[in-house]
Amino acid sequence: MKDFIAISDYAPKEVQELLDLALRLKKERLSGGNPPLLKGKVLAMVFQKPSLRTRVSFDMAMRHLGGDALYLSPQEIGLGKRESIADVARVLAGYVDAIMARVFDHQHVVELAQWSSIPVINGLSDYNHPCQGMADALTILEEFGSLKGLNVTFIGDGNNVAVSLMHACAKLGANFTLASPEGYDLNPAALKLGQQFAVESKSSITLLRDPHEAVQNAHVIYTDTWTSMGQEEEARARELAFPPYQVNVQLVSEADPKVIVMHCLPAHRGQEITDEVADGPHSRLFPQAHNRMHAQKAILAWLFGVR
Ligand code: CP
Ligand code: NVA
Repeated sequence: MKDFIAISDYAPKEVQELLDLALRLKKERLSGGNPPLLKGKVLAMVFQKPSLRTRVSFDMAMRHLGGDALYLSPQEIGLGKRESIADVARVLAGYVDAIMARVFDHQHVVELAQWSSIPVINGLSDYNHPCQGMADALTILEEFGSLKGLNVTFIGDGNNVAVSLMHACAKLGANFTLASPEGYDLNPAALKLGQQFAVESKSSITLLRDPHEAVQNAHVIYTDTWTSMGQEEEARARELAFPPYQVNVQLVSEADPKVIVMHCLPAHRGQEITDEVADGPHSRLFPQAHNRMHAQKAILAWLFGVR
């Protein structure tokens, strides 16, 4: 596989190998540092949307592995506007060694990968967020030792982050439940893929409306913003639909006593999650954010074939 566009493109065994590699690279980093596996390599980071975690974690991942990263802002590139995606892909391929792109339209990152001879990594699209999904799986793996048989519940919008989490769970044998309001369901094609993977891993995917029912026996409660980047004009309607889906102390108390709470961040405290939960004993929000860097080191090393 040349690119990292979706977790659904990878076999369960490969997803597990990526996680094992991430664990190894994390251990190395925390006990003195990583060897310069990517010495001399440069990653171009193309952003159509803002970012804290993706930008900094990829940059630091490259530095820790002996490489470098270039940040290209929406204003500089004008992907698909100033210049066609096909042209950007072919130009960058002559300068740098890999591209990470955060785009509005998923087809744009797919098109970048089609036209570029170097690896392309999806740093979030309107469809999915596979680097987040890998960091999430890594966080759950560290907490519970395995994803097999765990109950992972996503509360809120069936969005890009939910799609990648569902695919990671279904590949690795965790039961995935989504509680969302009507009209905020998962992408149907992504759901179909997830259901196939769940059959293969003997896990389940359950779609509910009631968040209280959804958190029964949950080992992981996950939430994300009600309004994703690019949906700003829907914000008001969403603020009316989502309040029953807030992850608060009451909801967390209805789950398994050992439940962990996750959020890809940025969090809108007082909306999808309360301060008490985000900063409380069940929260894994910051280790999860830090795992972005460790998971992405594994993705980079894998794509460069230097594991
Ligand atoms: N979780 C995540 O992707 O964060 P950023 O938008 O800050 O990169
Ligand atoms: N669902 C959010 C995730 C941000 C990291 C968005 O797309 O804006």
